[in-house]
Amino acid sequence: MTKISEQIPRQTERNATSPLSQRGERPRPERATAAREACCGSVVRPRERLVASRGARALVAERHRRGRERFAPAVLAAALLALAAAPREARATPPAAPLADTIARGKAVYEMYCAGCHGVNGDGKGPASAMLLVKPRDFTSGVYKFRSTPNGALPTDADLFRTITNGVNRTSMPESSLLPERERWALVAYLKTFYPRWAEEESAAIPIHVPRPPATLGSPESVARGRELYELLDCGRCHGDAGRGDGPSAATLASDGWGNPQKPFDFTKGALKSGAAPEDVYRTFMTGLNGTAMPSYADVFDNPNGESIRPGDAWNLVSYIMSLRAAPRGGATLAARADAPDQLAAADAAPRDHQEAP
Ligand code: HEC
Ligand code: HEC
Repeated sequence: MTKISEQIPRQTERNATSPLSQRGERPRPERATAAREACCGSVVRPRERLVASRGARALVAERHRRGRERFAPAVLAAALLALAAAPREARATPPAAPLADTIARGKAVYEMYCAGCHGVNGDGKGPASAMLLVKPRDFTSGVYKFRSTPNGALPTDADLFRTITNGVNRTSMPESSLLPERERWALVAYLKTFYPRWAEEESAAIPIHVPRPPATLGSPESVARGRELYELLDCGRCHGDAGRGDGPSAATLASDGWGNPQKPFDFTKGALKSGAAPEDVYRTFMTGLNGTAMPSYADVFDNPNGESIRPGDAWNLVSYIMSLRAAPRGGATLAARADAPDQLAAADAAPRDHQEAP
């Protein structure tokens, strides 16, 4: 008991105050400096930022009111439609082609579809970024939220491919499942060139093992145990008692690792940004979201002490988090939905055109 409660505050503290500097255990002086400048030099609270950029926000608020906040470059939409007949299945590995050719192809595709938001230089400052509530990723710092790799590590190629294919729920980041796979892999190769130390650090990007969900996932016992864990691990400090993203720390979180406001996720509103499946919830709290206050709990669950944390508890926590989702139309329960992953995904497909203000 003591062990856990000592461990957690330290862990979250580290995340909340210096999200970037926790990338990996190896000291990286340049990174640490950049991180301090980016996140902690001056702690700007979300509210102050809101005031500071009132002009841009007012514009966004106006668009939001009209329910049209999504930025969808016409060219992207048209091209995606034209590609509707393209094969959709994801291959596990990129096709073999000389790297320089792949990167050149990736650059062309990137400049057509991605630079409007992420910037020609990959710095997240494309022309559209000023209008967006959730800012496009800056690829130059090598810090990625959505990964299957340990806290602090780079994502794998498969992680990038998945994000590009599925997009990011609840943000303007579009899905690109209609782009030919070869082009998506070329994008992966090109994104990596924005961070010069990729090749050097890539070896630490080893995915964690996500076991198969147990049959008890979503059972009342599992949900009840998950609730205990939610309280024990103090997830509610940020995510709120009822999981609405409104815990006591939510309003005081420092800017994220890229200098933007951040907001704990509201579990009641459906699919996570990174996916709708139980595995996505599991992966998120085992790896953490680099650059944000969302910590990794791998240390806790990988070493169950048999008392406060028991083997299999990670899935109980998943059961509880998923039970917080508002029942989809038709009122299916998690247990029923867990057997029908496709329906689950469909029921949870969050409307993309309602970005949430951080
Ligand atoms: C309309 C704006 C927009 C366009 C166009 C766009 N993105 Fe994004 N992208 C975003 C936003 C906003 C985020 C940040 C989501 C977040 O932080 O929660 C993002 C996040 C990402 C991430 C996740 C990074 C991480 O932290 O894990 C990747 C990878 C990415 N974009 C790649 C691309 C690629 C490749 C393209 C072109 C095919 C593209 N994006 C087009 C807005 C856009
Ligand atoms: C110190 C604050 C903090 C604590 C404590 C915390 N989180 Fe989070 N969490 C966040 C923030 C901030 C985000 C949103 C990051 C973003 O969207 O960029 C988040 C996002 C998430 C997401 C959504 C990921 C996605 O893809 O959208 C899940 C799931 C999650 N947290 C689970 C948990 C669980 C389970 C616990 C407790 C074991 C927990 N969190 C504790 C801050 C916290």
